[in-house]
Formats: sequence, C-alpha cells, structure tokens
Amino acid sequence: RQSIESPLYNLILKASEFYQQSLRTHSTKKMAVDYFKQRGLTGVIARDFALGFAPPGWDNLIKHFEADDSQQKQLIDAGLVVESADTGKRYDRFRERVMFPIRDVKGRVIAFGGRVLGDDKPKYLNSPETPVFHKSEVLYGLYEVRKNNRHLDEILVLEGYMDVIALAQFGITNGVATLGTATSEEHIKKLFRLVNNILFCFDGDAAGRKAAWRALESALPHLQDGRKVRFLFLPDGDDPDSLVRKEGVDAFKARMSQQAQSLTDYFFNHLTEEAKPTSLEGKAHLASIVTPLLTKMPSGGLKALMYQKLEELTGLDQQHLLAIKPVASHVS
Ligand code: GTP
Ligand code: MN
Ligand code: MN
Ligand code: MN
Ligand code: MN
Repeated sequence: RQSIESPLYNLILKASEFYQQSLRTHSTKKMAVDYFKQRGLTGVIARDFALGFAPPGWDNLIKHFEADDSQQKQLIDAGLVVESADTGKRYDRFRERVMFPIRDVKGRVIAFGGRVLGDDKPKYLNSPETPVFHKSEVLYGLYEVRKNNRHLDEILVLEGYMDVIALAQFGITNGVATLGTATSEEHIKKLFRLVNNILFCFDGDAAGRKAAWRALESALPHLQDGRKVRFLFLPDGDDPDSLVRKEGVDAFKARMSQQAQSLTDYFFNHLTEEAKPTSLEGKAHLASIVTPLLTKMPSGGLKALMYQKLEELTGLDQQHLLAIKPVASHVS
C-alpha cells in the first residue's frame, strides 16, 4: 500500500485546484457554470464538493504544471495524463468535462469523475486505477458524510455523483455512491464500521433494481443482529437527484421513512415472485433458491427468523431445508 508521502496525492490535489480555478476563471468557464446551474446546483454546494471544470483542449493541465518529463510521468501515474500507445504523444485525460473530485476518508483527493456537458459518450469518465485509487473500494461522498454528520445513524447508498450532491444540497447529507460499480462486500464492511443502518436507494430502472439485488447479496454475509438494511425503490425513470428536485425534500424524506422496505421483506417478496410457493413444485423451488442465500448469513436471530419464515412458506422444517444441496440456480 501507498505511503502517506506519495507525491501523487500532492499532484492530484494541485490538479483539483486547477479544475476548481478553471470553473471560476477560465475563458470558457461559462459552459460549465451554465451546466451546473441548469442542473440546479448552487455555488455553495459546488464549493463543498470541490467541483471543477476541465476546459476544452488537449494540454491545459500539462501546461498548468509546466511539466518536465519526470513530472509528466507522475501525471501519467496519477491517471491525469494519457500517453498514446501509437505516437507517444501525451495529452490531458479530462477535457471539456465538469469534474467531481473523489476523496478518500481522510479527505485527500485521489481521483476524479468527469462528466460531459452534453450527450456525448462516455457520459462519465473516471480516473483509472492508480497506486492511490482503487475504484472498487471507494465510496464517493463518504468523506463529506463524515465531515457533515457528527452523529451518524444511517448511510444512504446511491448510484451517482449527482444523487449524492443533490441530496446534500437539500440537507440530506448522509449519501454516498459507488463509482458505477456494484456494491461489494468491501463497501458493506466499510459502511458497517461506521453505522448500523444502511438504506439503498438506486435509480428507478432495470439497472437500479438489479443493483439493489446485488447489494442485498453483498450485505447478507454481514447482517449481524442489530444491523439493519433497507431498500427504497423509486418510480420508473427517476433517480434521487431528479426526484428530490421534482417533488421536494419533504416528500423525499417521507418516502425514505414510509416506503423503504426491510431487507427481509424485499428478500422474500422478490424470491416468491421468482418461485411462487403456491404448488409443491413452487415451494421446493423456493426452498432451493433461498437456502443457499441464507447459508451466507452469520448465525443469529435474524437468520433463524428467516429460516422460520421459509418454513412457513414451504412447509419444510429446518432439518429438511438444511439438507438441501445448493444448486446453481439463477436468481437476478
Ligand atoms: P446524470 O446524467 O449526470 O444525472 O448521471 P447519473 O448519475 O444519473 O447517471 P447514471 O444513473 O446513468 O449512472 C450512475 C453512475 O454510474 C454515475 O454517477 C457514474 O458513476 C456511473 N456511470 C454512468 N455512466 C457512466 C459511463 O459512461 N462511464 C463510467 N465509467 N461510469 C458511468
Ligand atoms: Mn442509473
Ligand atoms: Mn441516475
Ligand atoms: Mn441522474
Ligand atoms: Mn429477479
């Protein structure tokens, strides 16, 4: 692992300052300022999240650093400059994008997400893996969550940068996001070190529902008694950012408190849709897909209660349930 003295931290911080400065003063800043305004962001929230702008052009960052060869190599190591494999030419990775700095829990900028201002692809570009950035472990916004919440009871896990920022702007300051990756057990462990309660709130679309089930699977092995995981499903076509702007923060908070499902409700609702326990075949099918999932859970009251629920649904007692050999069954 990287030592604290890594020069990359310094370099990435300086780049972040350059992007922030460009949002304030670059000759082309208007396109970025207009973009953020059109998305409803205030200057205050932009500053809190250190949002920036990578101006159009191939070498703004390189020029800013007045980089000599060794420094350019460090910029490459930091993922900020790219060297063409064919020509050896070096150019800025992030161009004409609004910039979301990604900080580690200590507040050090370790990477960036950059969004196009229009509809080009890819919509978001992230820094590549570097010695200081391991994408699959990072939760965007976690530093800010800890900074802004002295007493933290629950963390919301969202899909995107803009979801975290929009909710924060409306006073819901406990949201984090994975960086376009599935919620992993590493993420879950990290969160449960800080809080006992997690609320997943993904986009109201097929990808969001799939992400929710993946998150559930990652959470199961870490569901010690006393911990609570909930899921809030949003209307089709909405994500937390669009919804909080549309219906207001009070309505959004009401959703969180009234419509979020417990993990166990979601678990059994979802699986009894997959295998309806209305026939003996359905009951056997249900048992065969539930038991391998319950096996992943730590022992405790919740696990026992879920076995009991499965007994009620299938009529099979625990002895029979435990004897079921896990089969490769598709549950998505
Ligand atoms: P907005 O259009 O800005 O509101 O984005 P969004 O966050 O609603 O986008 P979406 O729901 O499509 O994606 C959620 C998250 O997945 C984003 O915040 C990114 O972290 C990631 N993501 C989305 N599109 C891309 C992409 O094209 N490339 C990569 N690497 N990540 C993406
Ligand atoms: Mn989405
Ligand atoms: Mn979205
Ligand atoms: Mn969105
Ligand atoms: Mn399914």
